[in-house]
Amino acid sequence: MINEELELQKFEQKIANGEKIEPKDWMPEKYRKQLIRMIAQHAHSEIVGMLPEGNWITRAPSLRRKMVLLAKVQDEGGHGLYLYSAAETLGADRKDLIEALLNGKMKYSNIFNYPTLSWADIGIIGWLVDGAAIVNQTMLAKCSYGPYSRAMIRICKEENFHKRQGYENVSVLAQGNAKQKQMVQDALNRWWWQTLMMFGPHDENSTNTVDLMRWKIKLETNDSLRQRFINLTIPQAYAIGLTIPDNDLKYNEKTQNWEIGKINFDELYNVINGNGPCNRIRIAERKKSYEEGNWVRIAAENYALKNKNNYGTK
Ligand code: 3HC
Repeated sequence: MINEELELQKFEQKIANGEKIEPKDWMPEKYRKQLIRMIAQHAHSEIVGMLPEGNWITRAPSLRRKMVLLAKVQDEGGHGLYLYSAAETLGADRKDLIEALLNGKMKYSNIFNYPTLSWADIGIIGWLVDGAAIVNQTMLAKCSYGPYSRAMIRICKEENFHKRQGYENVSVLAQGNAKQKQMVQDALNRWWWQTLMMFGPHDENSTNTVDLMRWKIKLETNDSLRQRFINLTIPQAYAIGLTIPDNDLKYNEKTQNWEIGKINFDELYNVINGNGPCNRIRIAERKKSYEEGNWVRIAAENYALKNKNNYGTK
């Protein structure tokens, strides 16, 4: 019979010492559950995030843009599979996680519930959405759970390429003709606030942050990461002549922070609850691809079963 109190003390001491918790280590059930929730929803976001961008692969304006977009979308698929494997180290079953997504019991990022209306959206997603993901994921790369933090190190390297290609795409349009300038400004206007919502509700309304920070899964709060992203991104927009769609925006010389207007969190909750512009189409597409891929899963399982002796697994 293990002494839970003692184990919890040892666990919290490890975290206080900045040590990583590994799959075989003792951990509080709440720590395990929080990690499965966060990692699985992160994985769902990566896979669903392939859909809005994938929509433009056949319509990319040049072979180069097509190849870059293809590489990015493939990366996102790899990130999703990587993160499902990280969730499995906690005893989660991938099939259960995907079914929870498909039946609405698990979430994915709000940002993937908006339509990609023009080619400029693809540049804006790379620059803003992947830029926001990098701010969040560089924090997660230092989190206390070994497999998640290590997954983030590799994923962040690829996200940096995603952000650069997006910003280069947007810069070319912003220096282009009047129509291109208008197209990219229109895309920024449609994605700016929704990207800020990616960081979650304000800290005081964040139901998970206290737990997550206690055990160093999250090392910074939603608002602090959001502020970092805003401070990083606004100068980048100005550098290419774009306008941030926020009439209340002002720079505070004292704090050196850009102060923004009010975020409409009703929209975030509305989208999280399945009522965004594209929620239904995204889940329907995800369901269709999951069903169409069933034969691959069966073939792989049968192959593994048939050859299990060759793998030395009894
Ligand atoms: N989209 C969807 N749901 C969100 C959300 C968002 N932007 N922000 C918050 N929520 C949900 C939370 O999941 C939570 O619901 P739950 O308890 O049922 O899971 C609820 O709203 C309250 O929010 P909290 O602040 O309490 O939740 P967290 O502390 O978990 O913070 C988070 C939310 C910042 C998204 C955090 O979960 C996180 O950092 N997750 C890991 C990173 C991630 O998932 N990123 C998604 C984008 S991936 C991406 O962009 C891919 C790139 O390659 C393009």
